[in-house]
Amino acid sequence: MEQRWLVTGGAGYIGAHTVRALRARGDDVVVLDDLTSGLAERVDDDVPLVRATVLDTDAVAGAITGHRLDGVMHFAARKSVPESVAHPLWYWHENIEGLRSVLEAATRTGVDRVVYSSSAAVYGATSGAAVAEDAPCAPVNAYGSTKLAGEWMLADVHRSTGLRYVALRYFNVAGARDARLADRGQANLVPIALDAVARGAAPAVFGTDYDTPDGSCVRDFVHVDDLADAHVAATALLEEPGAETLNVGVGRGYSVLEVVAAIARATGRSVEPAVADRRPGDPPAVVADVTRIRERLGWTATRDLDDIVTSALRAREQFGTL
Ligand SMILES: NC(=O)c1ccc[n+]([C@@H]2O[C@H](COP(=O)([O-])OP(=O)(O)OC[C@H]3O[C@@H](n4cnc5c(N)ncnc54)[C@H](O)[C@@H]3O)[C@@H](O)[C@H]2O)c1
Repeated sequence: MEQRWLVTGGAGYIGAHTVRALRARGDDVVVLDDLTSGLAERVDDDVPLVRATVLDTDAVAGAITGHRLDGVMHFAARKSVPESVAHPLWYWHENIEGLRSVLEAATRTGVDRVVYSSSAAVYGATSGAAVAEDAPCAPVNAYGSTKLAGEWMLADVHRSTGLRYVALRYFNVAGARDARLADRGQANLVPIALDAVARGAAPAVFGTDYDTPDGSCVRDFVHVDDLADAHVAATALLEEPGAETLNVGVGRGYSVLEVVAAIARATGRSVEPAVADRRPGDPPAVVADVTRIRERLGWTATRDLDDIVTSALRAREQFGTL
């Protein structure tokens, strides 16, 4: 059923892709974003953009009532692991006080449907086997702690008021629908490695002596368009009372060296990685068990690593150089 959403952080990388997917279904969307890391140009001209922080509860509630919205997709957050380690209190303020403010606004306005951006960071250092939602959560940095505490807050409100929510634990998100929506940041492997190749430099690979098939770290890379589709699919769960937490990944790991090889294929260049020491705190392998999301939503990723790298490269060629 078509719905009317407040999308916090809708000028960001994942939020903007999800806005596209929601509108393609026919949903109405209002974006609320303080544009601290988002870009106004990612928001289509015919989508209302409320420039405000989620910490401003009155602004969030005003956007909900002013546009007669019936659900919230909450993407707005800070997401850098090293930044969270350096500034944990700021992360708790932005991510946790931010969510608290959004939930207060939702409660005040009678909105009882929320989709929440969680992260594989809630699991911490996993063993390497595919990790399911009922695995122990032991975050190893402040970013992961705030994402997990956000899940707890949602669960508390659900128990108290019946709030319906879906928490989606994203694994490694990459790729782009087009240049306007693409991730311009330098926090993730694919954009960092593409940037290195563009500069004629060797992409860094931190550690090739892990207990993994080729010795480099293994991650579950999910295309941002698949992730956006998962949000659209997740809205069906909000039709019934309940609360759900779901991994969103491909269910298969790719190593850092495989990503570098995919970049070489996509660019047609020979790319020699620069092997460096391990970085402290990098788990060898983090891969999603995607059984639950397949069962609950009938969703599976449809795009692979080459789709991810090719789409990111195509977007980069439009907004940068390669
Ligand atoms: N990118 C990933 O690989 C990844 C993985 C797991 C989880 N996540 C989560 O997904 C969400 C979206 O991430 P993204 O990659 O699109 O990041 P992003 O930085 O591109 O988007 C975040 C958006 O939120 C906005 N924002 C930040 N703080 C705000 C505030 N206080 N008030 C209003 N707007 C605010 C920013 O301006 C930006 O537009 C985040 O919650 C992040 O923690 C991302």
